[in-house]
Amino acid sequence: MSRNADELAALIRSRAGAAPVSVGLVLGSGLGQLAEEVDGTAIDYADLPGFPHAGVSGHSPRLVIGDLEGCRVAVFGGRVHYYESGRADAMRLPLEVLRALGAEALILTNAAGSMRVDIPPGELMLLSDHINFSGLNPLIGEPSDARFVPMKDAHDPQLRARLLDAAKAQGVPLTEGVYAWYSGPSFETPAEIRAIRTLGADAVGMSTVPEVILARFLGLRVAAISTITNMAAGMSDEKISHEHTKAMAPLGAAKLERILRRFLSEF
Ligand code: HPA
Repeated sequence: MSRNADELAALIRSRAGAAPVSVGLVLGSGLGQLAEEVDGTAIDYADLPGFPHAGVSGHSPRLVIGDLEGCRVAVFGGRVHYYESGRADAMRLPLEVLRALGAEALILTNAAGSMRVDIPPGELMLLSDHINFSGLNPLIGEPSDARFVPMKDAHDPQLRARLLDAAKAQGVPLTEGVYAWYSGPSFETPAEIRAIRTLGADAVGMSTVPEVILARFLGLRVAAISTITNMAAGMSDEKISHEHTKAMAPLGAAKLERILRRFLSEF
């Protein structure tokens, strides 16, 4: 843990209160509404020295610390992606701070394209595993032996079981599948989609995987849910665009919110 993370955690505690955080949430494109519903303190990333500048529209670069369904949470309203800076470890400091605030678990959310006709736009997919199709890694350059992070069960089986239970209790369909990380920012070609589908991926997106690796490196238990905003390139006639992603994300967001609220109420 860097000195900077401990200092930032102290700064955040001085503003948001000293109680330790239990769960961190990272909200993906168009999924930011939940941050508004936390009863707590919002801090702009700009007020947290060293925090990345999240510049993608549809993300709101704020950290909100407070109570949601009786659980002390830290909600990251904006994430930074590899494609913004060329740095795969862009989320390292925020996640180090989360750990320093006491969190044991991290739930990541994102918008993704589906390669499964049984998980169409508007549906949710719980990541059972991932394929790092980018060849990048946020731990490149990390000098300690801790960099050799085991990735079996990286998507925590217990957290996944709890998320599946929460979805069932809410009557929200939640299917497990494999997510492939493609660096972006251009979308994939139909040939690339055919390739990763053949390799075993069910959904594709431009985020999340580096955060899963970082979370495991930091000793955080982690799980992730995708909101499917489109069928992946070449799988339907719809035009894929960031505008479309932002417009479609709210379809899944309401269901995602019900799952997360239930999950937190029982955490
Ligand atoms: N590809 C990559 N990222 C995405 C997609 C997609 O089809 N949809 C939403 N985010």
